[in-house]
Amino acid sequence: MTNLYLIGNWKQHGSRAAIQAFSEQWSFDPNPQLRIAIAPPFLYLQALREALPDCHVAAQDCSVHAQGAHTGEVSADMLVDLGCQYVIVGHSERRQYHGETDALIAEKLAAAQSAGVTPILCVGEQQAAREAGKQDEVVRAQLRSALATSQPNLLIAYEPVWAIGTGLTATPAQANDMHDMIRQEVSSLLGSSHATPILYGGSVNAENADALFACPHVDGALVGGASLEAASFMAIAQSASNNLSH
Ligand code: 13P
Repeated sequence: MTNLYLIGNWKQHGSRAAIQAFSEQWSFDPNPQLRIAIAPPFLYLQALREALPDCHVAAQDCSVHAQGAHTGEVSADMLVDLGCQYVIVGHSERRQYHGETDALIAEKLAAAQSAGVTPILCVGEQQAAREAGKQDEVVRAQLRSALATSQPNLLIAYEPVWAIGTGLTATPAQANDMHDMIRQEVSSLLGSSHATPILYGGSVNAENADALFACPHVDGALVGGASLEAASFMAIAQSASNNLSH
């Protein structure tokens, strides 16, 4: 095992008081092979970076534009300026509720890569596709479109939409099989010399993290609800750390 990644996605949650409480409870021995980051709403990036100097910060989205008259947008260059290491791109909530298309996601990926912030590309099928056995087809199409113009510098998160915020998790076998497929697809699209980390996301918690991290094709986790409390996020970090030492 080389490295594991643990990214907390706070979505539209957080406050200065929540960051203060989280940082007071956070106590985790840094492990150089375990990359931990938290993605708060944009306006808390700086506060979180100062409160948790041991963790990286990630953004939840970025603009395709470098700058200009784009009210409400935040550019990838601004994220770099703030010391942001990662940016989530193409989360299913942005695809579903904010009309993000595969073409737009490919542009955001390129914007992040050219600015020098590592994108975390999210892919994943809806429940109906899983029930119809079409999950590989859906995810392959998302990858082909998003990675058509991509550089090798990225992480991928497999987040089956039916597992997000539902308490349903992909079984370790389902996650591992999909990650295996993603790995093959990515290496044929970007070249096999690049080892792209593939994270799993969807109701990861302190109870199921161990079994997921133990899967050979799972290189980490993108965690929503269970990243909001320091205690549960630390427990998941501990599972990751234990798996690195195996
Ligand atoms: P939950 O862990 O709350 O299911 O959210 C997963 C997710 O969407 C992370 O990006």
